Amino acid sequence: MVQKLDKPILVTQPFLPPLEEFQEYLNNIWETKWLTNNGNFHQTLEKDLCDYLGVKYISLFSNGTLALVTALQALHITGEVITTPYSFVATTHALWWNNIKPVFVDIEPYTFNLDPEKIESAITPKTTAIMPVHVYGNPCEVEKIKLIADRYGLKLIYDACHTFDVRLNKIPILNYGDLSVMSFHATKVYHTFEGGAIISHDAATKKRIDNLKNFGFENEITVITPGINAKMNEIQASMGLLQLKYIDGVIEKRKQITIMYRNLLKNINGITYIEDVPNTKHCYSYFPIFVDKDKYGKTRDQLYEELKKNNIYGRRYFYPLISQFPTYCGLESAQRGKMPIAEKITEEIICLPLYSDLLHEQIDKIVRIIKP
Ligand SMILES: Cc1ncc(COP(=O)(O)O)c(C=O)c1O
Repeated sequence: MVQKLDKPILVTQPFLPPLEEFQEYLNNIWETKWLTNNGNFHQTLEKDLCDYLGVKYISLFSNGTLALVTALQALHITGEVITTPYSFVATTHALWWNNIKPVFVDIEPYTFNLDPEKIESAITPKTTAIMPVHVYGNPCEVEKIKLIADRYGLKLIYDACHTFDVRLNKIPILNYGDLSVMSFHATKVYHTFEGGAIISHDAATKKRIDNLKNFGFENEITVITPGINAKMNEIQASMGLLQLKYIDGVIEKRKQITIMYRNLLKNINGITYIEDVPNTKHCYSYFPIFVDKDKYGKTRDQLYEELKKNNIYGRRYFYPLISQFPTYCGLESAQRGKMPIAEKITEEIICLPLYSDLLHEQIDKIVRIIKP
């Protein structure tokens, strides 16, 4: 145990199923010699994920970033898209790769998701879509955002890369918006080493997405659109099938760890965290804390460095803001002072280690360092 406590504690660690179970899938792949291109495991995973997540159509991808890029292509999005600066950089990069101008809008002070009250004033004649992110897996204000999108005839693409089976009033969050994009990267609650998906709601859109991720092939000799190669392979899909078998237990453990953190970090002056959103089934993908330097007596970076000195590697998700990176900082919507909530939160955030195998002793060690 002591040995384990001396090891670095990283912000996350992937859940891996028993190796023998994965070996069985590998044996099958070796036997059939079918490695990719809509193989048997790929088809089964699409079906099983639809059932598990309560969605109609899913298209599997090699990663979430290519799924985002393809989602924008699938809906022919152009011009300007309203989005959040408080996300992983791939959200905005997907717009840039499609020659779309990101227009940043500030976030809410409680969920840290795109603030619906601030969307309308950012709409221009060039706006074609809104791309919010369910940050940390907490649902956006989906009903309010839908009303705005409908009123202005805008498409709505959710970056749902932090979510897995999140439900709001029992409704899968993935069923909101025109499309939702997921990531199955190794750091996510549910992973396929690398991977991703687009959730769509009608067969024609699913077909277009599937063409786009396979070079635009409609059939053996017909290419109907300049597509890309973003297919998920059979090894990824088999990991996905195995993860599905264990995911309920993984999410339950993450929930218990979250509850433990909340109890232990309660009443520390200057340290806050997010509570569960009412009527929501969460996936507990991150445990973010926020450091108010005046009340806590230390800055976020001081605490971050102190944790590091003790072999604990939290991550400052999301710091800096996407709007502060060189590619985007020249945009008018990115100017300092325009997004006061995001600018404040990005200076206060640390995501603490959270994964299903995190030990109680390790949590105690982390909390001991945070407690003044
Ligand atoms: C919010 C968000 N969007 C997009 C991505 C990109 O996904 P991927 O790493 O699978 O390309 C990630 C995660 O990595 C993410 O956290």
